[in-house]
Amino acid sequence: MNWFKALFGSKNDRDVKKIRPVVARINEIELGLQKLSDDELRAKTAAWKEELSKIEDKAALAAKLEEILPEAFAVVKNTCRRLCGQDVIVRERPLRWEMVPFDVQLIGGYSLHHGHIAEMATGEGKTLVSTMPVYLNAITGRGVHVVTVNDYLAARDAEWMGAVYKFLGLTVGVILHDQPPKVRREQYQCDITYGTNSEFGFDYLRDNGMALRKEEQVQRGHYFAIVDEVDSILIDEARTPLIISGPAVHTFDEQYAQWKPTVDGLVRAQQQLCNRFLKEAEELIKKLHPIDGTQVKNAEELEKQIGLLLFRVKTGQPRSEALMKILEIPENAGMMNRAELELHKDQKKVDLYREKEELLFAMDEKSHEADLTEKGRTFISPQDPDAFVLPDLNTMLHDVDVGPETDARKRLETKAKMQSDFEGKAQKIHAISQLLKAYSLYQLDVEYVVQDNKVLIVDQHTGRLMPGRRWSDGLHQAVEAKEGVAIERETQTLATITIQNYFRLYQKLAGMTGTAETEASEFFDIYKLGVMTIPTNKPNIRKDSDDSVYKTRREKFNAVVSEIKALHLQGRPVLVGTISVETSEMLSRALKKEGLIHSVLNAKYHQQEAEIVARAGQRGAITIATNMAGRGTDIKLGEGVPQVGGLHVLGTERHESRRIDRQLRGRCSRQGDPGSSHFFISLEDDLMRLFGSDRIVKLMERMGLEEGEELKHGLLNRSIQQAQKRVEAHNFQQRKRTLEYDDVMNKQREVIYGFRNEIINSDDVRDRLMDIIEEVVMLKIEEFTAAETDLAEWRVRSLADWVNLNFPLGLPEAEIIKAAQSGKENPVEGSLFDGLSEAQFAVCNFITDSIRKAYELKVSFEEPDKLATVERYTILQAIDKLWQEHLYEMDSLRHSIGLRAHGQRDPLLEYKAEAFKIFDELMVNVKTEICHNVFRSASSLLAFENFLRNAPQQTLHTNTSAFGGAPAADGKKASDVVSQAADAAEAQAKAKPVRTGPKVGRNDPCPCGSGKKYKQCCGK
Ligand SMILES: Nc1ncnc2c1ncn2[C@@H]1O[C@H](COP(=O)(O)OP(=O)(O)OP(=O)(O)O)[C@@H](O)[C@H]1O
Ligand SMILES: [Mg+2]
Repeated sequence: MNWFKALFGSKNDRDVKKIRPVVARINEIELGLQKLSDDELRAKTAAWKEELSKIEDKAALAAKLEEILPEAFAVVKNTCRRLCGQDVIVRERPLRWEMVPFDVQLIGGYSLHHGHIAEMATGEGKTLVSTMPVYLNAITGRGVHVVTVNDYLAARDAEWMGAVYKFLGLTVGVILHDQPPKVRREQYQCDITYGTNSEFGFDYLRDNGMALRKEEQVQRGHYFAIVDEVDSILIDEARTPLIISGPAVHTFDEQYAQWKPTVDGLVRAQQQLCNRFLKEAEELIKKLHPIDGTQVKNAEELEKQIGLLLFRVKTGQPRSEALMKILEIPENAGMMNRAELELHKDQKKVDLYREKEELLFAMDEKSHEADLTEKGRTFISPQDPDAFVLPDLNTMLHDVDVGPETDARKRLETKAKMQSDFEGKAQKIHAISQLLKAYSLYQLDVEYVVQDNKVLIVDQHTGRLMPGRRWSDGLHQAVEAKEGVAIERETQTLATITIQNYFRLYQKLAGMTGTAETEASEFFDIYKLGVMTIPTNKPNIRKDSDDSVYKTRREKFNAVVSEIKALHLQGRPVLVGTISVETSEMLSRALKKEGLIHSVLNAKYHQQEAEIVARAGQRGAITIATNMAGRGTDIKLGEGVPQVGGLHVLGTERHESRRIDRQLRGRCSRQGDPGSSHFFISLEDDLMRLFGSDRIVKLMERMGLEEGEELKHGLLNRSIQQAQKRVEAHNFQQRKRTLEYDDVMNKQREVIYGFRNEIINSDDVRDRLMDIIEEVVMLKIEEFTAAETDLAEWRVRSLADWVNLNFPLGLPEAEIIKAAQSGKENPVEGSLFDGLSEAQFAVCNFITDSIRKAYELKVSFEEPDKLATVERYTILQAIDKLWQEHLYEMDSLRHSIGLRAHGQRDPLLEYKAEAFKIFDELMVNVKTEICHNVFRSASSLLAFENFLRNAPQQTLHTNTSAFGGAPAADGKKASDVVSQAADAAEAQAKAKPVRTGPKVGRNDPCPCGSGKKYKQCCGK
């Protein structure tokens, strides 16, 4: 590994070295700029803007930017010089400007412009670094986005760095959570826009998945984004996709309240069971160590039994306090871990399953799964334990198909019943499993808090509350049921995208952070971003102590409090990082008892955050902050503080990810300041329990620690890092998985958003509308007629019915037959088009011509500009409605694939295949839906009535027309009529969209109408 690192390091050094001449050039130009007047300096921006706006070609633009880079960077540097001594108002406080970019900052800026991740240590001034590439790219007029981790930093940086941009005549905007669309659009119109990743992402989803008119869209493209704290955004946050949701159409909310008492009972019974196992284990432990000190004969067997018993409790009640207590003795933990390891060794896991069957339900803490066992099912439903087993539906359906029943309708009924029984069962099982999770794995004040009769999620990385966010898949309802608060309606996804796929939209992407190195390969794999490590300006002189490890949390926190007290007495400020809100508050109480005055920075008080942080570097200040609450915030040392050693950062637990710990450390020793850091750990910490290795436990066993004694050992630091690495790898897999699934959706989303935007931007929607109708008519003809067969075998009635149900034509069957015959006798040139026979082609022409004529009639009663809007709505509504249903289906698909994911099949492959199939159906259904609505929408009721009175169907006798009278609309606005039309359509399309046309062949023209072959378009 070392040779590799050495090589890697030196390559980095060489890359950095290559930039040095550019730095020299920038500095040389900047020297010259010092002679200019302010106005002369400003004039450069306008000239460049003018010149760059004329370049359209991407490569030419990039070349030009490369050419002017040194001068542009010099302009920014020189502006900084001119600003020195001035006060800039940042978050309502004056901040004296004292920054002129150092050489290393110029290097950082250069690397950002070239689409790298600039890794610069915490406190090196990355905020300023970004101004140079931002300026250079903003003068192209294409809009530059700067992405921050929270609203506070977005606003801070826009105001703080805004001083530079505004001096140079550029505009700066910031996107904040509560802005209305109009304000957002103005922010995007600015040359530079600051905001958080979720705000940018949600705007994209609203623009492309929901806006109905061009004027409703707020973004104007994705040219260049610089992501600050890039690891946090592109890695940590990337684990959960962005989702816009609305109330679900199908919900099972009642299930949670209904099953709560059952699960209450189940959990209690399991508790008793586990207590029994613990007691047994305790007795065996006594046997293992007889009081008279003799050696027991069957020690090995005893150890095994104890280990198994403890493991059972861990599986049944992972957060049990009694268990924690027993595991405080490292020897016991050792026995348990060995037993677990043994169980996992067997490929088939026979013993593991047998162990689980001793319980009522089994929890897997690592994968967050909960499973009812046979015992548990009997407990819930003694008469019929099978009520909670999912049958093999496919086999059952197949059996009916090949069974003795001859009546097709009866077979269908039986199958429908099986299907609905299956779904009912699946819902029950799902609700119970989510409730079990809520009871066993989700702890009040750790994973969530209850406020105002609501369950609010606590962000595990920042400790902040996330109002409005809900766990998906019913978990949130389950927690609500557990806490006895109001169960809110389940929501359904209206639009969604992963962070990864959002940022892949940018033509150019760059990032900066203090901590990228550990994830370098992921950045490259997923975003094609390389990491460049930039040297610090002044050497970092922070002193990092080895971690101190204690057996129990109690002992650990005693030690934490004494260290805080000791440093406080020396006058040093201390920043204490905790992993949860609960820990923050516990620690706060402990400090209060000692009479130590302190501030708490966590989810509950984040409004005052900035002020608390500003004071955190003052003499003797004690600040408790949940882990990353302080990310990116700058702590300035108070007077006299450097003399006593600077800020001390104290970590009360190791985070799952090493980066987060480094971020915490990075709050001190900024810009060459003195400072120090020290982490405290106990064997009860989640990280150690779940991922810690046997080695630590053994070590502790050997040392035989006294109460309150700490363990410091070089080996430990490595083991802890190992544990962290294991979690990181685990999380990377999870992110990759999410992404692999989203990639499927991403292709579909591209097609749908592309289709939508085409409609939104098109000046002639009618043309498109007619094309769509023609496509559907063609599909229908293929469905009801056949190219080769005799006309007598055509299902002309069905075809006529379909036409007359959708369009007010009142076409008699005879006319269709006539058209077909004349087509056969006098073939038109260009028939055989798309595989249709002459007869079919003639029918197609006949029907579409009739529709066209009817439509022209309709147009004659409408106000032209209003009609254009109606046409657009008709198409967009069909897309949105069915797309949202499709998202719902995809969700359930993903879930059911998960359930099916045993055996030899790869769930991802299955998911892809099914997803492809239902998307295929979606495209056809959307167009069919559009056909259904074209004549049901009008810009006014009057126009609608006038048209109906004159429609051809009035003069004909047909019993299949759906156009008997005026629409149910009573309003006069187009949108009303349209929405009424949509309601009517809903009744028709109900629940599952079904495919109506024959399957599109791979070489057929794509049904999305792109004109390309299907396999090269949507069917890719
Ligand atoms: N060229 C400079 N000259 C003087 N001070 C500077 C310069 N650049 C940055 N600073 C100061 O360094 C401090 C840290 O800056 P900043 O918050 O941008 O660091 P950062 O690299 O973003 O840190 P973090 O990783 O914590 O986000 C600020 O107080 C800033 O004023
Ligand atoms: Mg920063």
